[in-house]
Amino acid sequence: MICSPALRAGASVANHAGEVSLKDRVAPLQPFGTVRNISKLSLLLYGRLFTCLLVYLYTYTMFITLEGPEGSGKTSHVPYLVEYLREKGYIVFPTREPGGTSIGEQIREVIHDLKNVEMHPRTETLLYQAARAQIVEQVIKPRLKAGEVVISDRYYDSTIAYQGYGHQQDLEQVRTLVKYATGGLVPDLTVLLDVDIEEGLGRKKKDNEWNRLDAYTVEFHHRVRAGYLEMVNQEPNRWVIVDAGQKWDAVQEELRMVSLGRLKTK
Ligand code: TMP
Repeated sequence: MICSPALRAGASVANHAGEVSLKDRVAPLQPFGTVRNISKLSLLLYGRLFTCLLVYLYTYTMFITLEGPEGSGKTSHVPYLVEYLREKGYIVFPTREPGGTSIGEQIREVIHDLKNVEMHPRTETLLYQAARAQIVEQVIKPRLKAGEVVISDRYYDSTIAYQGYGHQQDLEQVRTLVKYATGGLVPDLTVLLDVDIEEGLGRKKKDNEWNRLDAYTVEFHHRVRAGYLEMVNQEPNRWVIVDAGQKWDAVQEELRMVSLGRLKTK
């Protein structure tokens, strides 16, 4: 996209030059005109290609997502990770799912409301996708196009883990829905903050952040965690596991190293 206007401009120059060179061929008094025009044109095109290359090399667009079972501490880590990467010179935009847009935050209220006990797993799955389609189009894609680093607290892997593995729905159907909602946008890096289920749920209860999903059975949450671990095995290049059972500072340090490392080798 960044290159296309430039290349389009180059193409129109080429057409124009094409007309000139035809005229030159029938003008016997300017035998070197065509050659000169062509070399000017190549210089212009190479110049534009070089600019595109520089823009590409110095644009640190990257989509990082944080995932994990309940109480893994993702949310408390994001602001500190963002601040650290900004200090390193990156333009970073944090967001979260479900939410991150006005529409998404309203959907979040409905999904998490402890009153909505009758919500069917398919309703739940679809509501997450509705919120997701909105954030992808309204926030994530434009920010990535602008060359920013987007860090999202949860993304579509949460749907596969919770609605797929947790609720034991057909995984292929869930994956198809997720692909529809995201338009196929896959993160560059996904960090799994892995924590023991009982410990994580205990942390959430203590922090008074209990929502409708937390209230699912412990077996449900064990399936979620097992699902995450299976996803890591399926796509080891995209995923990195950080042990969220460690001290908070140690987890933050690992998160910083993993994210910075990936940004540097982009
Ligand atoms: P959190 O913001 O505290 O992590 O809460 C989000 C909750 O929503 C959490 O219980 C996981 C759940 N969730 C899903 O079940 N599916 C999804 O696709 C997403 C994004 C979140």
